[in-house]
Amino acid sequence: MSALAAAKLGYRCHVFAPEPDSPGMQVAAARTVAPYEDAAALAAFAAAVDVVTFEFENVPAATLDVLEPLVPCRPGVQALRIGQDRILEKRFAESAGLQVAPWREVATRADLDAAVAALGLPAVLKTTRLGYDGRGQAVLRAPEDLDAAWARLAPRPLVLEAFIPFERELSAIAARGADGALVTFAATENRHARHILDLSIAPAPVPEGIAAAARAHVARLAESLGLVGLLALEMFLLPDGRLLANEMAPRPHNSGHWTMDACLCGQFEMHVRAVAGLPLPDPGQHHDAVMKNLVGPDLFGRWAALAAQPGVALHLYGKAEAREGRKLGHATRLLPGGAVAAAANPALLAPG
Ligand SMILES: Nc1ncnc2c1ncn2[C@@H]1O[C@H](COP(=O)(O)OP(=O)(O)O)[C@@H](O)[C@H]1O
Ligand SMILES: [Mg+2]
Repeated sequence: MSALAAAKLGYRCHVFAPEPDSPGMQVAAARTVAPYEDAAALAAFAAAVDVVTFEFENVPAATLDVLEPLVPCRPGVQALRIGQDRILEKRFAESAGLQVAPWREVATRADLDAAVAALGLPAVLKTTRLGYDGRGQAVLRAPEDLDAAWARLAPRPLVLEAFIPFERELSAIAARGADGALVTFAATENRHARHILDLSIAPAPVPEGIAAAARAHVARLAESLGLVGLLALEMFLLPDGRLLANEMAPRPHNSGHWTMDACLCGQFEMHVRAVAGLPLPDPGQHHDAVMKNLVGPDLFGRWAALAAQPGVALHLYGKAEAREGRKLGHATRLLPGGAVAAAANPALLAPG
């Protein structure tokens, strides 16, 4: 989707990935299929492009270490390293003045007992790396749950977090240019099903002060990182109105997919503009939006019905297989401004 946004601005993308049929390859002007560790392929790639970015935060940091001396990389390796590691992420958020859920690093089975004694149950045990869509975590409800979770979760160290009885989950996205210009998109409410993002609702139906705080938090993180590109921040909204930072990602984010259709300049174009050194405009949001993820294989079957609905923007990713639990596309219903705030239950406005 970044390659499509780049093409719209007249840029040609060269995609580097280990998989020959990744969706980005289908719409790129040039391709390199090689392992992320292939130094010769990386050098040839760096020589062929003007600037490098990434859309996926599990690109090894060592890959950017190879590229950074050869070609500008935006964002840089520091943002990638922090976004790959929950412990670095939490420390960074705390150092920038944000609150996070109470947490403990868990390197040994004895650490787990100590962490549970300190934080209480329920709690959530998570891998520090390579987790997504709820993979790599376990909710601990009773002392009997500890052994199985400890045996299952890898790689270690792990992180134990207090279970947060949040009122809602919110996210916000900031773009920052090389000149320090900063733009944020409307705060978004996210609802998950089976730990996978199901719906994003924008603007989040929360008081203005909370939405503004969510945007200010992600902007502060982007500033502290000196990031050039896009930064997404997932947050928990507590019943008392406080926001806790959960995860961050230095890239376009699934909870910002609605911006492609509801803004003049959506997150992918904003990403390309930041990376390419173009001006960053106000997003120009012209509609409220409710986005539904099409997760494989059941929801994906609805694509033909969704394609027939007026007021719904459909995006299908061209992934080779409709595997269980995989995000295969999304659909966004556009609504007049104010429709989300006026709805008793905005989830009912989802395309379906
Ligand atoms: N400490 C927590 N308390 C309550 N719910 C949590 C907690 N941590 C995660 N969750 C739930 O699990 C979802 C996925 O967790 P997250 O840390 O974002 O991992 P990932 O998105 O990498 O799978 C969150 O969006 C939230 O719904
Ligand atoms: Mg998450």
